[in-house]
Amino acid sequence: MAPVTSLTDLVHQRLANALSATLPEADADPLLRRSDRADFQANGILALAKKAKANPRELATQVVSHITTGDVIKDIEVSGPGFLNITITDKAITENLAARYADDTARLGVPLAAHPGTTVIDYAQPNVAKEMHVGHLRSAVIGDALVQLLEFTGESVVRRHHIGDWGTQFGMLIQHLDEHPGELDHGGAEISGEEAMSNLDRLYKAARKLFDSDEEFKTRARRRVVDLQAGDPQTLAAWQKFVDESKIYFFSVFEKLDMEIRDPDIVGESGYNDMLDETCRLLEESGVAEISDGALCVFFDDIKGPDGNRVPLIVRKSDGGYGYAATDLSAIRDRVFHLKATSLLYVVDVRQSLHFKMVFETARRAGWLNDDVTAYQLAFGTILGKDGKPFKTREGVSVKLEDLLDEAVQRATAVVREKAEKVGLSEQEIVENGRYVGIGAVKYADLSTSAVRDYKFDLDQMVSLSGDTSVYLQYAYARIQSILRKAGEARPLAHPELELAPAERALGLHLDQFSEVVAEAATEYAPHKLTAYLYQLASTLTTFYDQCPVLKAETPEQQENRLLLVDLTARTLHRGMDLLGIRTPEKL
Ligand code: ARG
Repeated sequence: MAPVTSLTDLVHQRLANALSATLPEADADPLLRRSDRADFQANGILALAKKAKANPRELATQVVSHITTGDVIKDIEVSGPGFLNITITDKAITENLAARYADDTARLGVPLAAHPGTTVIDYAQPNVAKEMHVGHLRSAVIGDALVQLLEFTGESVVRRHHIGDWGTQFGMLIQHLDEHPGELDHGGAEISGEEAMSNLDRLYKAARKLFDSDEEFKTRARRRVVDLQAGDPQTLAAWQKFVDESKIYFFSVFEKLDMEIRDPDIVGESGYNDMLDETCRLLEESGVAEISDGALCVFFDDIKGPDGNRVPLIVRKSDGGYGYAATDLSAIRDRVFHLKATSLLYVVDVRQSLHFKMVFETARRAGWLNDDVTAYQLAFGTILGKDGKPFKTREGVSVKLEDLLDEAVQRATAVVREKAEKVGLSEQEIVENGRYVGIGAVKYADLSTSAVRDYKFDLDQMVSLSGDTSVYLQYAYARIQSILRKAGEARPLAHPELELAPAERALGLHLDQFSEVVAEAATEYAPHKLTAYLYQLASTLTTFYDQCPVLKAETPEQQENRLLLVDLTARTLHRGMDLLGIRTPEKL
């Protein structure tokens, strides 16, 4: 693996050197950004001149005199009150692309982070015995992209699926199963996720009905909760059946989502049962929590209810029961002290933000979190229907995630089929591509806006061939593959001596930015920045095609050079989409 120094970094270094030669005492970073005027514009000089009480234009001129041009920088000129416009040589662009192309196709010259840590990421956390609905989509999709992005930068990532697998609702479920044994026995036969969910749903509804109508059943169900919490083996065995049945279902949905979820990473709420007592003891002994009306509570000066009274985080209820907070606090201890995390990341709905605010603050007061170990909730917004209201069915209930995915695949398959004959796709390829396009569309829509924002779920828009959609990017990739196939004997090869057309330069400079964008998307937990970059890449490619023929290039050298450009574009698209969990079919 050979990391490639980006052109931005090269220019940055040279400017920094020139700056320190001009003003030795100054420590300033030349702020570099892409510009329409030139390839880059540097605008740190103004602030620097102000500090040094110097004339910015004069200072800029002096800096320029310390820069050698020719190899990397073609031209550098002072503009406006002290900006620097910088143009890169064609040779540097082509050499940079050649170095990226020569690297491992999985890394494309992207360096690892200088100081990677260990992130425990909490994502894709559905609830046992409950259907996954549209609200569970975002955590899974955003979380999965972040896992890939962080690992790509060299971070150690531990995945945790904090499923809802504990609580009083299990009393009635277990009791009902006990009274109707065999309900979840399949006699050794494998069942589908759909069957598993329908079994669970049937049981849930029956138990609920009894619980609401039959006082004696209610009493028996409540006793079951006590047995469960006391660890009664028979009760636990029944509970385990619900968990196992639910996992069959979860895995089928995750497979549909084309997402790898591993069983050992599923550590639900129940996984911290053994720690709850100690968590409470530690909080109480340190004075972080106090008994109030019989409950163990943590108070915050800035968190108050409508009546003006402080709203506590209840760690242990007055009846001795533990809830969501105790589990999450114990999970923090496990992740920090046992898994040795340096960052805790929670991909959870914004509606749980108050909970996490209180939990994190409690953990900080207890000393479990500090400057070296931080926690962050990546709080995502709601998926809305076309009408701009939270996405519901016509009957007003949450949309089942599976139905939604099935519909996306169906629509996408129709889109793929339309072009299938022209591209020469077999029926099997149509079906496969339909899945990749449909699931890709759903993921892309989720990842292309910043996570905090709500977005509208609009399948028509998502599978549209033009515009900011995954299928637009997938077509860009497939089109390049078709060009590479048609190129026959001609191979991608760099010719740094060739002069580049403006569209070639634009594409080359954009490709060079991949490493910076990936680093930014990972450190800021912002996959949408990568999505925006890839869309821009595909658009830049479209302009390039309009202006620079590849198969009909003027000379064999130009053709080879252009083949390298498009192949590197394809590799970058492929790698970037892969980090987002989206496939790029070879033919589309
Ligand atoms: N199971 C919860 C839900 O469906 C999400 C869990 C979030 N993670 C956590 N550590 N609390 O809403």
